[in-house]
Amino acid sequence: MPTPSTQTPQRIGVPREIFPGEKRVATVPEVVEKLVKLGFTVAVQSGAGEAANCSDEAYRAAGAEIVADAATLWRTADIVFKVRPPTPEEVALMREGGLLVDFIWPAQNPDLMQQLAAKGATVLAIDCLPRTLSRAQKMDALTSMAGVSGYRAVIEAANAFGRYFAGQITAAGKVPPAKVFIAGAGVAGLSAIGTAASLGAIVRANDTRAEVADQVTSLGGEFVKVDYEEEGSGGGGYAKVMSEGFQAAQRAMYAKQAKDADIIITTALIPGKPAPKLITAEMVQSMKPGSVIVDMAAEQGGNCELTVPGEAVVRHDVTIVGYTDLASRLAKQSSTLYATNLLRLTEELCKAKDGVAVVSMEDDAIRGLTVVKEGAITWPAPPLAQAPKPPAAAKPAAAPAAKKGGHGHGSSGPLPAKTLAIVFAIAALAFWGIGSFAPAVFLGHFTVFVLACFIGYMVVWNVTPALHTPLMSVTNAISSIIAIGALVQIAPPDAAAGGRPDELIRWLAFAALVLTAVNMFGGFAVTRRMLAMFQK
Ligand code: NAI
Repeated sequence: MPTPSTQTPQRIGVPREIFPGEKRVATVPEVVEKLVKLGFTVAVQSGAGEAANCSDEAYRAAGAEIVADAATLWRTADIVFKVRPPTPEEVALMREGGLLVDFIWPAQNPDLMQQLAAKGATVLAIDCLPRTLSRAQKMDALTSMAGVSGYRAVIEAANAFGRYFAGQITAAGKVPPAKVFIAGAGVAGLSAIGTAASLGAIVRANDTRAEVADQVTSLGGEFVKVDYEEEGSGGGGYAKVMSEGFQAAQRAMYAKQAKDADIIITTALIPGKPAPKLITAEMVQSMKPGSVIVDMAAEQGGNCELTVPGEAVVRHDVTIVGYTDLASRLAKQSSTLYATNLLRLTEELCKAKDGVAVVSMEDDAIRGLTVVKEGAITWPAPPLAQAPKPPAAAKPAAAPAAKKGGHGHGSSGPLPAKTLAIVFAIAALAFWGIGSFAPAVFLGHFTVFVLACFIGYMVVWNVTPALHTPLMSVTNAISSIIAIGALVQIAPPDAAAGGRPDELIRWLAFAALVLTAVNMFGGFAVTRRMLAMFQK
């Protein structure tokens, strides 16, 4: 039964994570203040936030009590916030009938579920949030962690890779941009695409769900299709296991990409199944020496055949990074996001702001999260009433992003017909006026000017922003047409005219010719080198 709100405020306890190498903490000082405002008291185990740059003093200043040992913390807390699933020892410390908010992964941890049920606990598994409920997005820690991990995967790749990501032309020679291929464009994949593109790499990506193609493009990547028609969506925004035919076609495409890419980041997962094996040992062997693979699916078996979970290994001269703690490697950032997700959840649990959490099974989001309720296992939750809606709900979120990308490239859409007619009428009147009254000499020059504007506009419009620099260098080279003027001045004296040209003007013309030749040949050379950088 929910605790009546006349009770004393509940105590939220945050223990130190004991999983080896885990640096995250379930709450941060900035969030402690807000939990206190909701009416709760907060206790944090001494040193819990140390690895995430949150000192005991900072927690204390935010209104938390610092507890010296884990046993006291677990025993005295009504609610425990944690990151990693609890160990049997931690469950043993837990208060009978307590509330635990944590990553649990019930499908993978049936024994843990039994232990928690035996404690009469209520458990909200943050990994079981119905993510397609738009109301639940603020509590979506899976998305927060995947975003951080995708970013970190690129940083790990950059660390292991011996070159720049962005192409450069330096006095010491040309550096081509790195080519990054991303397998799986879910939350982590999209984060990796955005990060790699912002570092200047050429990014390509593939996913079995065709609907992500627009999102890939809007983040600066190129979507590479598998040459095989099959719907890859398994419902709820997730993927499904593909047919043998599709997998064969996908392998052929990945083999081609592996030969070309410098870095491969794999993120492909299918809920409840082992990670699909997308990168074979032969593909690794075919990669250029010094290439890097970051396998973000390492914990679920890996997308690459040669991945060693938790380690970075070198195989066939390719570094394969299989770290399973990518989010923990950005501990401060991921802890802050996770703590904020839990704060939003707490606000849902404590609408009265009286420091008492009420777990309502009537609420779709809370029902989905609740895997154990007062000792009874309630996982899995029944499908949401609006279950068929998710794909439609996910699409509108992607569509505006894709549209934005289009606008960003300068195609602002056609003008309305009425506006266009008015513009044309005004232009026609102006030309008629100029044609009727301007002197004939002016008209000749004016015609050339108008045609030049028109041709210039047609050439420049629709050129992608990435090509603006080579475009400038080529127009710079073309501007060297002024050389004709210098050539005319440098010409030998016209005998018929009977006079010698001014020697000073001839020398000036010669100097102009030399300078403009540098401009002309240099401009074309720079343009060629820049365009070569874009050739894939
Ligand atoms: P995930 O971590 O389960 O999978 C990662 C990606 O791998 C997915 O995009 C999946 O399609 C892809 N994949 C699976 N098998 C593959 C294969 N054989 N080859 C290539 N790619 C393969 O997915 P994640 O990141 O948790 O999110 C999945 C979807 O859910 C995304 O579209 C995301 O936008 C959506 N989502 C929607 C939310 C909402 O509507 N509120 C909230 C969070 C996620």
